[in-house]
Amino acid sequence: MLIDQEIVLNEILGSADLGIRKLVLKGPIAQQAKPGQFVHLQVGSTLDPLLRRPISIAAIDPECQEITLLYKIKGKGTELLSKAGPGQKLNLLGPLGKGFTLPAQGELWLVAGGIGVFPLYALAAAAKKQGLTVRLFWGGENSSLLECSGLAMWEELGLPLYLSTLDGSCGKKGLVTEFLQEFLQAYRQSDPSPAAAGEPVQVAACGPPGMMQAVTADCLQAGVPVEVSLEEHMACGLGACLGCVATLQDRQGRVRRAKVCQDGPVFRGEEVVWNASC
Ligand SMILES: Cc1cc2nc3c(=O)[nH]c(=O)nc-3n(C[C@H](O)[C@H](O)[C@H](O)COP(=O)(O)OP(=O)(O)OC[C@H]3O[C@@H](n4cnc5c(N)ncnc54)[C@H](O)[C@@H]3O)c2cc1C
Ligand code: FES
Repeated sequence: MLIDQEIVLNEILGSADLGIRKLVLKGPIAQQAKPGQFVHLQVGSTLDPLLRRPISIAAIDPECQEITLLYKIKGKGTELLSKAGPGQKLNLLGPLGKGFTLPAQGELWLVAGGIGVFPLYALAAAAKKQGLTVRLFWGGENSSLLECSGLAMWEELGLPLYLSTLDGSCGKKGLVTEFLQEFLQAYRQSDPSPAAAGEPVQVAACGPPGMMQAVTADCLQAGVPVEVSLEEHMACGLGACLGCVATLQDRQGRVRRAKVCQDGPVFRGEEVVWNASC
């Protein structure tokens, strides 16, 4: 749907120098949105910038008719977005794309690198509501990055959090993938499995491509299904311009191109060709 939605809140999260903001919008998109989908935002009132900006839907509240977006100021578009205030309207296209699969039972392990945690929040909330056990493995540069990227929201959700930072300022020192590997290994050996009574585990990951590639390899080795959320530069957001193509491969090795805006952004990890040259 193409719609104007009112800004309820557009505020800085944590320390201002990281430029991470929380944007809450009121309107009917909240009724349709699914975890992992995104909206394509017109960030200014003029034709400059011409292109919309894709931002994941971080939280969905159908009762209050609100969606929450978490975004980092990166360039011209997000800088302009940061200037919009409560009461103003933003033009959105959405909800767009194919989101994450919510497992019917078992455990859902979320693996996030830095601000890749944003699209995982709505998935965690939906899975928790459904009674699934949800664990978040989240790595970032330092404690400030995690705090400014919504750590308090995650703590309020009350899930087991396994945090890691490169400098050791929060959680374990090291990479989030090291944490995940330990859990996958324990799951494979099933004793002592962190997954109660051998419940099936499914993984959803979002972060830098190298991290998602490593998570995919580790999950496949452990026989655990994994979904990843890809980012590509987008123009139309609707599958018309072919500006956001990713390369996929099926089990027989047949290669095909997929539009991240329409066929994704969420794909099965095993089908993504991570180092495709085009
Ligand atoms: C499906 C999807 C979901 C996303 N969700 C989030 C989110 O929840 N929070 C968040 O902070 N960011 C998210 N991003 C990245 C966000 O879209 C870019 O940071 C933003 O478009 C940058 O725009 P800019 O004008 O500020 O920066 P500029 O660098 O000036 O942008 C110039 C152009 O490049 C494109 N672009 C730049 N960086 C990216 C990028 N990493 N991915 C895709 N296009 C890019 C812009 O859309 C624009 O067309 C998402 C991207 C995609 C594809
Ligand atoms: S952005 Fe146009 S096809 Fe995906």
